[in-house]
Amino acid sequence: MLAPVLLIAVALYATFAVLRAIQQFFHQRKNARALGCQPPRRAANGFLGIPGFLRMARSVREKRWLYYLLEQYQLNGTTFTANLFGRTMVMTIEPENLKALLATQFNDFGLGTRHREFYPLLGDGIFTLDGAGWSHARALLRPQFTKDQVADLALLDDHVSRLIDMLPKDRSGFDIQTLFYCLTMDSATHFLFGESVGSLLPPSSSSAPSVLEKSTGGAQGFAEAFNLAQDYLAARSRAQDLYWAVNPRRYRGAIKKVHDLVDNYVRLALESRSKNRQEKQENTRYIFLQALAAETQDPKVLRDNLLNILLAGRDTTASLLSSTFYLLARHPNVWQKLRQIVIGEFGDSRRPVADITHAKLKDIPYLRYVLNETLRLYPPVPLNFRVAMVNTSLPVGGGPDQRAPVYVKKDTLVGYNVFAMHRRKDLWGEDAHVFRPERWEENAKRGWEYLPFNGGPRICLGQQYALTEASYTLVKLMQHFDTLENADPHVGDDPVLVSTLTMSHDRGVLIRLYSSED
Ligand code: HEM
Ligand SMILES: *[C@@H]1O[C@H](CO)[C@@H](O)[C@H](O)[C@H]1NC(C)=O
Ligand SMILES: *[C@@H]1O[C@H](CO)[C@@H](O)[C@H](O)[C@H]1NC(C)=O
Ligand SMILES: *[C@@H]1O[C@H](CO)[C@@H](O)[C@H](O)[C@H]1NC(C)=O
Repeated sequence: MLAPVLLIAVALYATFAVLRAIQQFFHQRKNARALGCQPPRRAANGFLGIPGFLRMARSVREKRWLYYLLEQYQLNGTTFTANLFGRTMVMTIEPENLKALLATQFNDFGLGTRHREFYPLLGDGIFTLDGAGWSHARALLRPQFTKDQVADLALLDDHVSRLIDMLPKDRSGFDIQTLFYCLTMDSATHFLFGESVGSLLPPSSSSAPSVLEKSTGGAQGFAEAFNLAQDYLAARSRAQDLYWAVNPRRYRGAIKKVHDLVDNYVRLALESRSKNRQEKQENTRYIFLQALAAETQDPKVLRDNLLNILLAGRDTTASLLSSTFYLLARHPNVWQKLRQIVIGEFGDSRRPVADITHAKLKDIPYLRYVLNETLRLYPPVPLNFRVAMVNTSLPVGGGPDQRAPVYVKKDTLVGYNVFAMHRRKDLWGEDAHVFRPERWEENAKRGWEYLPFNGGPRICLGQQYALTEASYTLVKLMQHFDTLENADPHVGDDPVLVSTLTMSHDRGVLIRLYSSED
């Protein structure tokens, strides 16, 4: 009795679904035609995109994902569609499309699933919100980043000096990438919370028990918990619609630890504010949390935004520094040339001749060429995406010549690959794969084909901070050491790159750094 009814119901439903799909198809085609769109090429990903997905998954496992994606663009052109489990995505590395996606058609696109995937750690902050919530967060934070105090060099100096103290004195090889991740954790927490988590310090060396030790049992605890939570965020992003299934106890514990620590700082900042409201502020050091607490006293807003900035700013800057040393260790002529300029300007650590200031750091073109060129070849955020919030189109990539607009229906994911775009020979020349800082001397005016910091209304807020931190650290290391050598036996190969939320070197960055006078 039940079976036939069920059968009929299923048949009716199936018929309805097919009819609806057909109707949608024609409707979308009409929309597309009205916008002058033509279909882009399709990657040959097989039935429901499953074979293509398995090929990609293998490349992730074998740690050649970024190179695999680069190859896809070489094979399929600069804009194509790919099918993943029956869903169509648009992939593009066309500057014109990125300009539309990130700037001129900003309101047509959003972050998609980032908020729900990152919410447990990051809450509602600038990095996770869209729409009015994002505008509000951006307006709150932006003024803080335009102040001169951002990237306080004296504050940075404490941490860079500690890093220098930790380097081996016997000319042996070591992995500088690990140290850079600790450095940027220490400097970012110092700048944001007013106290560094001291991950470059040996565990028991701190003299007075800090807020941190009282709340989480030590600095290492925080850095480890934050790293762990972040790894799970990346796993949740990869799981797409199944993101909620990635929620183990370890991950929840790490989040709690991170939140407890930040909440402590927030509470202290709010208490000291209400205590000192009448008194004159004598603290000269710029602490982000204190400045922000003058704007809002909502503890959740404060915590969420501090963590959003920590996530956005810490690994990215460590990635830039690591890739810079990766490249300089393999290009001794560039190291020599830059070091000569730096020593000429500031002297070395034995004979300093001038203070390192913001203004002077900005005024060394070759230093900026080196950083620009590193960010081109190894952009710390190599892959990114947006999701269409309405039926819309992108200006190029369709039709046989790939010059017609491409239709993008609501909810379609548009993936963009800055790593691959920065290596396009038609945009950068035949030597696009070569590290050559001088190319910036020949042509510094770059548009949407160069996007290490993103563009448009959501352009990175910390660009200046990051460039200052990287420049200062590089200058300090050059003042202390005249010789940089590669200590990685894999000399000629491309580096093994892993890309989670940001890019890092899978084998670390093994170098020797010493002074030939010692
Ligand atoms: C070399 C270092 C850095 C690189 C390459 C970098 C790159 C980026 C990129 C690509 C985005 C856009 C993300 C997206 O919208 O999907 C972004 C956003 C952002 N970055 Fe950076 N970043 C760096 C350092 C920093 C630092 C040091 C800070 C803070 C101290 C920071 C703060 C932010 C914030 C707050 C956003 C979100 C802006 C918004 O959505 O309105 N970044 N960054
Ligand atoms: C987008 O197009 C689809 C199919 O043509 C239509 O059903 C839908 O209402 C459109 N959505 C918007 C937001 O315009
Ligand atoms: C896209 O690349 C694949 C290899 O991944 C290739 O088999 C296919 O022919 C290419 N398709 C087009 C339209 O260029
Ligand atoms: C570095 O790149 C940026 C972005 O394209 C550009 O504005 C700047 O002029 C470049 N700097 C130098 C010194 O080439």
